[in-house]
Amino acid sequence: MASLLSNLASYVDFDKQSLLVSAASIAFNPLFWNIVARQEYRNQILTKLFGGSRIVANYALAATIFSIGLVRDYLYKTAISEQPSHPLLQGLHVQAAAWTLLAAGNILVVSSTWQLGIQGTFLGDYFGFLKEEMVTGFPFNVTGAPMYWGSTMSFLGTALLFGKPAGLLLTVEVFLVYVVALRFEDPFTSGIYAKRDRERAAAKAGKKSN
Ligand SMILES: *[C@@H]1O[C@H](CO)[C@@H](O)[C@H](O)[C@H]1NC(C)=O
Repeated sequence: MASLLSNLASYVDFDKQSLLVSAASIAFNPLFWNIVARQEYRNQILTKLFGGSRIVANYALAATIFSIGLVRDYLYKTAISEQPSHPLLQGLHVQAAAWTLLAAGNILVVSSTWQLGIQGTFLGDYFGFLKEEMVTGFPFNVTGAPMYWGSTMSFLGTALLFGKPAGLLLTVEVFLVYVVALRFEDPFTSGIYAKRDRERAAAKAGKKSN
């Protein structure tokens, strides 16, 4: 295992600047949307920026997150195209695994966007657009974070498709970044819903005592 890893690592060219640029954009994206969304939740900075419209602000953030996602994907493809391929990763089985991962990853991402809608996908709850019911249908009955794991699978699939150990390394980074992001996002989102439930309970109690 250790020798396989060091063998793979010997196919990563750490002197290429594009590798660093790709790594930076992978780390930047979730950092960006978490910081901005929390500022929106606490101070409504985006709603203020968009003339008081929460909807416009939410869609503007959605468009921005989508765009920086495209940039990240482009930088990733550019980075791995400048890296050596590994002969071990160019067999038929690896190629089959690559296409399977790409297909499954895209199904997870597209179906979760379909289920949640644009606002649900792009942090609408931070703007006060809360869902009444938790979405439990596919793909949420398969994984709690289909967007993140689907995206990770697509990175892995692309790395294998081109047989690039550097792509595997960047995929590990994507995975770690999402693990950290979920540890920040899940408790915060739960807090938003818990607050709504408390306020509803308080309003109900207020009505009863009147
Ligand atoms: C998830 O839901 C889909 C569609 O309702 C269903 O076909 C699938 O078997 C479910 N998967 C699991 C693991 O429960």
